[in-house]
Amino acid sequence: MTDEPVKKDLVALIASPRNGEATHCTAADYDRLYQESISDPDSFWARQAERLDWQTMPTKISNASFDPVSIKWYEDGVMNICHNAVDRHVAAGKGDVTALIFEPDDPQSPGRTISYAELQAEVIKMANCLKKLGVGKGDRVTIYMPMIPEGAIAMLACARIGAIHSVVFGGFSPDALAGRIEDCDSKFVICADGGLRGGKPVPLKANVDAALEKVAVDAVLVINHTDTDVEMTAGRDHWYHEISADVSADCPCEPMNAEDPLFILYTSGSTGKPKGVLHTTGGYAVWVATTFHYVFDYQPGEVFWCSADIGWVTGHSYIVYGPLINGATEIMFEGIPNYPDFSRFWEVVEKHKVNIFYTAPTAIRALMREGDGPVKAHDRSSIRLLGTVGEPINPEAWRWYYDVVGDGKSPIIDTWWQTETGGIMITTLPGAHGMKPGSAGKPFFGVQPQLVDGDGKILEGATDGNLCITASWPGQARSVYGDHERFVQTYFSTYKGKYFTGDGCKRDADDYYWITGRVDDVINVSGHRMGTAEVESALVSHPKVAEAAVVGYPHDIKGQGIYCYVTLNAGEEHSDELVAELRVHVRKEIGPIATPDHLHLTPALPKTRSGKIMRRILRKIAENDHGALGDTSTLADPSVVDALVEGRLNR
Ligand code: WTA
Repeated sequence: MTDEPVKKDLVALIASPRNGEATHCTAADYDRLYQESISDPDSFWARQAERLDWQTMPTKISNASFDPVSIKWYEDGVMNICHNAVDRHVAAGKGDVTALIFEPDDPQSPGRTISYAELQAEVIKMANCLKKLGVGKGDRVTIYMPMIPEGAIAMLACARIGAIHSVVFGGFSPDALAGRIEDCDSKFVICADGGLRGGKPVPLKANVDAALEKVAVDAVLVINHTDTDVEMTAGRDHWYHEISADVSADCPCEPMNAEDPLFILYTSGSTGKPKGVLHTTGGYAVWVATTFHYVFDYQPGEVFWCSADIGWVTGHSYIVYGPLINGATEIMFEGIPNYPDFSRFWEVVEKHKVNIFYTAPTAIRALMREGDGPVKAHDRSSIRLLGTVGEPINPEAWRWYYDVVGDGKSPIIDTWWQTETGGIMITTLPGAHGMKPGSAGKPFFGVQPQLVDGDGKILEGATDGNLCITASWPGQARSVYGDHERFVQTYFSTYKGKYFTGDGCKRDADDYYWITGRVDDVINVSGHRMGTAEVESALVSHPKVAEAAVVGYPHDIKGQGIYCYVTLNAGEEHSDELVAELRVHVRKEIGPIATPDHLHLTPALPKTRSGKIMRRILRKIAENDHGALGDTSTLADPSVVDALVEGRLNR
């Protein structure tokens, strides 16, 4: 997609997000600060750490190696991230500042605004409930919530008492939830009775009950959000409004070493089950605080809106920790972009006078399809900065976002990063850099990107390669929970001594980076990361399936769609009913986000004589590019390919 020619007039457009007023970072500032962050990282990051309150100021700044893999930042520092996100603002007299503006799924329902002082009281209340249920420092707590303030409050409450949160996206199935509870041996779940998305109920508590048939926990804390009738298991399940009735209004923040774990977040890779990516306290806090400050160029009094879900890393870093550490006022939106109609985003922008809006290209593409009308029906004059994240943005969608949504006056920042990087890594900075539609831009402070070829040879200048990062940065993941060896293998073994991102990337003559998408067996569906292996294992767990191969293909709205090739056990008949059944089966195993777009039942898969499935060929057929299948002579049975081309579904 990024290969589309870029219109000349859009190249190198340096736009100030504040009508010419000074931004947090000019081009000259960027050059100077970036230089310093590379030549003297310890003094640069010691200074950034001063954005936070520490009980013990760190004296050791970085202590990190990629071979062997050991990553530590601020290792003698002591702090609590909840204190930094909440309490210190209250202590500084900003208790009346609005922290969260809750915008419910149904625009007719009353919303809520929560000040920093109210947020502090809410977090303390939930933290004391967790303590009452037996949660202590280092315990894992699974959070399975809709996009309501209690989701953020639950995360902050865990951080306050030193418990490690593991948020599981509310769209995951009970099976997926059970796997994530089991993997980190979590004994506590926080959920709501139900959620609402686009007017449809999401049975969160019922899903938890189903998950807990497979794995046991000590306690479930249930928030009443939708007045849904749910089953409560005596001794295990507790209504939040009941158990919180008599808790104290006092709960000190647990002193945490900078390297104490803060959270686990499961993410997909090219092999095996999702990994529990582990982030720790101090470095993550500094990273999200610093990136939020510079990238969004936030000013007190402004309204920030990140439309992600707290179940993903974008929600962790730019709904919960980054904005709150910076004392920002922000929107928490429960709904979806097309409910009740396609103007919902802009209605919310108008209603709350949003200044900074951060969303995913897939949402932009879906809204673009509906034309300019729904956008123009609302006043968007408050917007001064637009951002995207999650997948490459095609120049056409960029242009529409810029011209129509931003009325041609707000810069766009295209931020590249990953669950593992903790926060934004490559982006232009508003007011400092020209924009190139489709390019993420320049490395953030301390980020040292490198492009290498398949053999690890370093590629210089304007070129195309695999994106690695050569030196540690504070927000980097420290491990895979319970499996450090998998962390080392996944990220540091392809190219020894470097962090390999899994992304392909182009660098142009201006040193701008253009992410071209994953080069491994990970696909990006509507900005959601998915391992093709996960979908394959869901398919083969169906009793009628013999074998499955899953690949991505370009999809107009979702970025990538899911194309599944499936062979059945001997004696099973191909039928439309079975295709429908398999689709439901995948949704049950993983969740609706993994629903196959195309399910191609085939008598055989193309294999080499040694039995290896030739994915390259399957990708080409799924892309409807079967004219260029390349060399098929190594196949055990070349006629298999002809049949697949004949029966291809994506025409
Ligand atoms: C992709 C989301 C192009 C990329 C924060 C990465 C992007 C994966 C961009 C991480 C972008 C994210 N341009 N591609 N601006 N941002 N990606 O862990 O392939 O859910 O490796 O983190 O999304 O997805 P994750």
